[in-house]
Amino acid sequence: MAQINEKKQLASSVTGFLPGDDAVVSFDNVSLGYGATSEADYILKSLSFQLPAGSFHFLTGPSGAGKTSLLKMIYLAQAPTSGRISLFGETVSSGDRAQVARLRSKLGIVFQEFRLLEHLNVFDNAALPLFVHGQSFRQYRDDVTELLTWVGLKNQLQAMPHVLSGGEKQRLAIARAVVTRPTLILADEPTGNIDYAMGLRIMRLFVELNRLGATVLIATHDESLVRASGMPVLELKDGHIVRRDLNTTVGGRL
Ligand SMILES: Nc1ncnc2c1ncn2[C@@H]1O[C@H](COP(=O)(O)OP(=O)(O)O)[C@@H](O)[C@H]1O
Ligand SMILES: [Mg+2]
Repeated sequence: MAQINEKKQLASSVTGFLPGDDAVVSFDNVSLGYGATSEADYILKSLSFQLPAGSFHFLTGPSGAGKTSLLKMIYLAQAPTSGRISLFGETVSSGDRAQVARLRSKLGIVFQEFRLLEHLNVFDNAALPLFVHGQSFRQYRDDVTELLTWVGLKNQLQAMPHVLSGGEKQRLAIARAVVTRPTLILADEPTGNIDYAMGLRIMRLFVELNRLGATVLIATHDESLVRASGMPVLELKDGHIVRRDLNTTVGGRL
């Protein structure tokens, strides 16, 4: 099974899509202009790609390439200027709030700027998505504690966000994003504020969640992390997606 998954990921990074696979994310000629009137000035230009169910990709490219913008379109915080986006096989229609709520409930998002709730402690921030889903403290206590232990926050469960370092906030934001075991995980520079060793540890968490079935897309400009993981890369360049060949096998060292 793992081998089949690896083959799927490898093939998907080369061909974009395998016939018969279910695409979790599908972009069809998607452009984003942010008010630019000339297509030449668009940030993202006529992107077409699919992320098959169970795939793992990095999204790379220099600062300003449009990584965050692309993720925002996937989590429906930014409408494309033109083109069609489908999530879980459903075409996204602009202005359909019920659809946005339904689709977003399947996503786990690590925001570049964390977006923690300052009046809730570490444990409650991480548990919030489960609380909102109607679970009781008794149901989620062990899961949340285990996850926060994994990301190295075991001794700060009661701490308020303002006393945390940048790296600790980052790890809390990651724990909160994955606590519901989302179908699709989107992470925007999730290792931006943590050291290399913790970065690898966090990457292993994403890889493990991917093994359990989640589709994962991680935006990063951290080339060393990308190389260490050996996972397929979608690279943004001049508004286009350039698929890079792998120089290591899928699975890599993580
Ligand atoms: N809301 C916005 N309105 C106008 N321009 C924006 C907006 N958000 C981002 N941009 C511009 O789009 C480009 C891509 O930004 P971004 O998606 O944040 O890139 P990256 O995440 O790769 O650094 C940048 O030039 C940025 O200034
Ligand atoms: Mg960004």
